[in-house]
Amino acid sequence: MHNLEVVYGDVIRVLRGVSLDVPSGAVVALLGANGAGKTTLLRALSGLLVLHRGRVTKGVVELQGRPIGRLDAPAIVALGVAQVMEGRRIFSELTVEENLRVGGYCRRRDRAGLAASFDRVMELFPVLAHRRRSTAGYLSGGEQQMLAIGRALMASPRLLLLDEPSLGLAPQAVEQIGRIIRDINAQGTTVLLVEQNAAMALSIATRAFVMSRGGVVLEGSGPGLMDNPELRHSYLGTTQPAPSPPAEDFRG
Ligand SMILES: Nc1ncnc2c1ncn2[C@@H]1O[C@H](COP(=O)(O)OP(=O)(O)O)[C@@H](O)[C@H]1O
Ligand SMILES: [Mg+2]
Repeated sequence: MHNLEVVYGDVIRVLRGVSLDVPSGAVVALLGANGAGKTTLLRALSGLLVLHRGRVTKGVVELQGRPIGRLDAPAIVALGVAQVMEGRRIFSELTVEENLRVGGYCRRRDRAGLAASFDRVMELFPVLAHRRRSTAGYLSGGEQQMLAIGRALMASPRLLLLDEPSLGLAPQAVEQIGRIIRDINAQGTTVLLVEQNAAMALSIATRAFVMSRGGVVLEGSGPGLMDNPELRHSYLGTTQPAPSPPAEDFRG
């Protein structure tokens, strides 16, 4: 995307000229405090902005050179972009398997492809394979996050957008999610990973961006940013004690 500007409603400008490139095959991390605009950026990519009364007022969003800014969400999914929303929005009353079938709905005519994606998800997440017929609401937080990711993979995306997959998970589950993201990427899926857990994200990412108040303020290689003193001194969920953030960052 280039020079992207997004507003909600008529006045609230949230992204102020953001440019960001996700190379094919990469894992790109997007870090930043609460309210920085990370979720908004993902919505601009996936076409979900309209659901939140948001719209792009300037700039372009391109997928492999093709402008997608005017397409709706189903059209963007069909082009190979799937988003896992913040807070694991699984269908808690449905079984694991039913949740996955919903994720594959956009490809319902491609039976062979769907079966292959289903097998891939079962292989990536053995724990879901064991609990195929369990009601999703009874899964642990980590398992629900895996299900949310698995559901997105059922659309067979080339680009997977993950919005804070480690949020609220125990350290062990965070580590597991990190490993899974690596595996998914190794199988050829490009990943844009939004995280508050900078350590986890930077350990996976080939490239990383830090957002603050609607703009990109830092950019670098994953390991490079890990050593960056500016990042260390910001409040990104590292082991450093967090300074009190300025009030505007918590408008959300
Ligand atoms: N639907 C909405 N309407 C108005 N403002 C919103 C809406 N969604 C988010 N915002 C505002 O946009 C800013 C960025 O939010 P968001 O993209 O969710 O940030 P992040 O994901 O980095 O925490 C925040 O100030 C938030 O309050
Ligand atoms: Mg967010």
